[in-house]
Amino acid sequence: MSNGMSTAGTSYVHAFRPSEYTTALLRAIETDCLALGNGRVLDMGVGSGLLLAALIHAGATQAWGVDIDPAAIEASQSLLAPVTHGRTCRLILGDMWDAVPDAAQFDVIVANLPHFPANVSYADRPKNWTGGDGRNTIDRFLKGLPDHLAQSGTAYFTHHDLIGLDHTVKLVESLGLRWSTVTQWTVFEPPERMEAVSAQTRALAEKSTHYYGGYAFVTARIIKIQWAPT
Ligand SMILES: C[S@@+](CC[C@H](N)C(=O)[O-])C[C@H]1O[C@@H](n2cnc3c(N)ncnc32)[C@H](O)[C@@H]1O
Repeated sequence: MSNGMSTAGTSYVHAFRPSEYTTALLRAIETDCLALGNGRVLDMGVGSGLLLAALIHAGATQAWGVDIDPAAIEASQSLLAPVTHGRTCRLILGDMWDAVPDAAQFDVIVANLPHFPANVSYADRPKNWTGGDGRNTIDRFLKGLPDHLAQSGTAYFTHHDLIGLDHTVKLVESLGLRWSTVTQWTVFEPPERMEAVSAQTRALAEKSTHYYGGYAFVTARIIKIQWAPT
């Protein structure tokens, strides 16, 4: 592997190292998905494969991961090969739900998709980790859930409130789903990132952004999604 190392039982790819969003989602998995039994799970934007490894550890028997980046699929294969132990593990290269067969249903779906609402990239992260139109990415993810979330299933995803919590809530409810916040925290956003965000987006997210002088702080959260009672 060009930017990392992989030896039997240990895989680490620096470019795919976990972020604070990954670790928050990891904690949600470790605390909320304790007994997955025969669980069918999907990680949308699988990256290193770390979250899928945690879901397998929690008992998932069918583990699927999708990523648009071939290097992520390769990193996940390397991490997961030693831990799958006969369970089904499908790693698919593709663009979000386009990569998932229509009939596939999951008990747990997780996603930590890049959705900071501006194009900011870093030399030591893959290009696909840039945000761009973050609203569009999260909307696409949410709109695919009704077709693939089992009736008693749960989805967890990372949400940066700069994309607009109100918009997310309206969309979730319009899809017949319900939401709750599992955990939330405050992210420091340096001036170069905030300046890359359009004035319109910043205005929409005014409620979620707090400034002390030039220091900007925004709420981030893990949102849990289930079917709304009918
Ligand atoms: C922020 S990384 C998170 C990786 C890993 N799940 C984690 O939490 O550490 C987001 C991942 O989503 C992938 N991604 C971005 N857009 C995607 C798309 N349209 N379809 C599938 N994967 C996508 C990226 O290639 C990247 O690996």
